[in-house]
Amino acid sequence: MKKLISGIKPTGQLTLGNYIGAIKQFVKLQNEYESFIFVADLHAITTPQNKKQLQKLIKELVALYLACGLDSSKNTIYLQSENPYHAHLSWVLNCHTYLGELNRMTQFKDKAAKLKKEGIPAGLYTYPVLMASDILLYDADVVPVGDDQKQHVEITRRLAERFNNKYGSTFKIPDVIITSTGARIKDLQDPTKKMDKSSVSDKGVILMLDPIESIKQKIRRAVTDNDSIIKFDEKNKPGISNLINIYANLKDISIKETEEEFKKANYGDFKEAVANLVTEVLKPIQDKYHQIINSNIIDDILNQGIEKALPLAKAKCEYVSKKIGLGRP
Ligand code: TYM
Repeated sequence: MKKLISGIKPTGQLTLGNYIGAIKQFVKLQNEYESFIFVADLHAITTPQNKKQLQKLIKELVALYLACGLDSSKNTIYLQSENPYHAHLSWVLNCHTYLGELNRMTQFKDKAAKLKKEGIPAGLYTYPVLMASDILLYDADVVPVGDDQKQHVEITRRLAERFNNKYGSTFKIPDVIITSTGARIKDLQDPTKKMDKSSVSDKGVILMLDPIESIKQKIRRAVTDNDSIIKFDEKNKPGISNLINIYANLKDISIKETEEEFKKANYGDFKEAVANLVTEVLKPIQDKYHQIINSNIIDDILNQGIEKALPLAKAKCEYVSKKIGLGRP
């Protein structure tokens, strides 16, 4: 069976963007791939985090993975920080990464700009290398992510190719999987921006655990345009196009089918339909989440996950060390 790997950073409450771009794909693909889904807590600390809040977000993220339908018998679910081999391989790959490559990472530039006053951690700069290690450590065939992570999967491929050329075949070259309608869900108040769990204001961000009525309000208040036609046009109608993407994705239909369904509707009717669909999807997830969050199942699943991930990662790191000439002959 081919392998899949992906992770999410526990840096804030998960958004509808995280669900559509990532988790919904993990759930769908778990039947086709042997899946490794982790909590990227080492990546979380590349920007300042509050210790108590981080602990809470790690647990919430695992509960949400399960509530969304990740099956622990089909997925290895674990915490990145409990597996020291991610950081080990990251160091090795750091020694094979060029500064020029890291300088081109757009996410680094965006995040660094916000941290200018406090100082920019070196970990934020080498973030993509740790991500490459997460992926290459398990010989993943595919990496389902949202569009914002595509550049990081591309550098992963490049690092793997470079390493293979230098030391002989060592790493599998992974493919990215991005859904067409779910690649980049936008902020409802500023549809030129990604819907982001780290946004300062959550007015344009649907949190997966938001109260149902608040989700509906946010969608009803979504910024649109002065036109009244429900037509996909990201350049001229970014707000409506975003809502079309959300609707089409959650209903598993195409953009054309969505336009057809609402060709006689006005913006108010369309927003109501989007609000109903989003809450229909999120309500059962929320109910399940509340059953899981206070149970022991989270620890059991993380124990089971790390037990499976550790030996695989250890074996891969030993293999890599041998290839380079590290350690004792
Ligand atoms: P993170 O935590 O920022 O986001 C988790 C996943 O959600 C996707 N995503 C979105 N997709 C569509 N629309 C949006 N508005 C939206 N916002 C977020 C992201 O693309 C991502 O797939 N670096 C990663 C975590 C990571 C990882 C990995 C992923 C660490 N190591 C190895 C895959 C493989 C991150 O910060 O994701």
